[in-house]
Amino acid sequence: MAYLKHKRILLGITGGIAAYKSADLVRRLREQGADVRVVMTRSACEFITPLTMQALSGRPVHTELLDYSAEAAMGHIELARWCDVVLIAPASANFMARLTHGQADDLLSTLCLAASVPLLLAPAMNQQMWLNPATQDNARLLTSRGITLLGPADGSQACGDTGPGRMLEPGDLIGHLDHVFQTNTLTAKKLVITAGPTREDIDPVRFISNRSSGRMGYAVARAAVEAGAEVVLISGPTSLELPERVFCQQVVTARQMHDAVMNEIRDTDIFIAAAAVADYRCSTIADQKIKKTDAFINLTLEKNPDILGEVASLSPPPFTVGFAAETEALLENARKKLINKKLDMIAANLVGDNRGFESEDNELQIIWKDGNIKLDHAPKEKLARNLVAIIAKHIHEKNSAQTH
Ligand code: CTP
Repeated sequence: MAYLKHKRILLGITGGIAAYKSADLVRRLREQGADVRVVMTRSACEFITPLTMQALSGRPVHTELLDYSAEAAMGHIELARWCDVVLIAPASANFMARLTHGQADDLLSTLCLAASVPLLLAPAMNQQMWLNPATQDNARLLTSRGITLLGPADGSQACGDTGPGRMLEPGDLIGHLDHVFQTNTLTAKKLVITAGPTREDIDPVRFISNRSSGRMGYAVARAAVEAGAEVVLISGPTSLELPERVFCQQVVTARQMHDAVMNEIRDTDIFIAAAAVADYRCSTIADQKIKKTDAFINLTLEKNPDILGEVASLSPPPFTVGFAAETEALLENARKKLINKKLDMIAANLVGDNRGFESEDNELQIIWKDGNIKLDHAPKEKLARNLVAIIAKHIHEKNSAQTH
């Protein structure tokens, strides 16, 4: 159960006695390192208080659809965009019926319609209610739409009955959630990724660098591990925690990054250049700190090796993905880079005006030879998972075209 760290889990609680188990579920999810936000229906609040869930999740609990202060902070659309997965536990018979009909008459049902992430339901109800043909039809319809039903389990019930309708235990639900993030789409693939900025020394105390935080590259590295790849991360200086199960090499300059990549590139299936590599370095680095004696000083800069371009020119090249950070004409500039550098794919985003580099969120245009797709504004982790899924799809298509 190692996949839930930093995952954003939206836990929906509907009315049912099993709501008391959701308190333990939140506690355990947080122990796994997940970030949990709780949304409760009105009847859920009759079984367990929002205050309890707030204390356990460490976040405000959301209950109202039309609450002006809540909408200003994080409304239903923001919540839907924020989360990586929605788990509704317990899911009552009434909630399942409302979801089947696409109703949007409270915060939780509206959010379910607005979210484009995996939706999991843990039904909990009296066994007769579960076995009722109406509920069974709803369960079938929800499953056919791609919603995952977890349980219910069989056993003794709070109402005294015995039969199917018990909510799965928190440990089992966590096991299922963990599974959502293990996609195995890149099993047995080796992936090398660069991330972060590089630094080019001017003198012993100064350097040329840029605003890259490394977040996007680190998120892609994590997403690739979840997809089953063997990941080598070659990182410039960042303040980020190293991703788990990733072989990480820390470098400082563009030339060190270049050498580290070239050492690793043999047998690599996928290369992703997410680093903001300094295009130029100082021709000479002063031995001593440069003193401010003159009104003007000149630095002579020379070009650094283009790591991405060099990898894409290998024969045969790995599946090569570049990043393009542009301040204008995004699609046009990115497509030029795709063609000039002979890339398989490029992920382009606008930077400047607090967009891109230092923020937690971003939006991306993913462009390849004969197509493109826009990934809407979302946390970088979520964009990273989508990007990895798109890369995996293209690689599988390319492989199956080669074998036919
Ligand atoms: N890149 C690289 N090695 C370099 C420079 C860039 O691997 N020396 C990679 C980056 O990691 C990114 C892509 O190339 O994936 C960016 O392309 P590039 O044309 O270098 O972008 P800019 O430097 O922004 O180019 P320009 O100034 O022409 O916009």
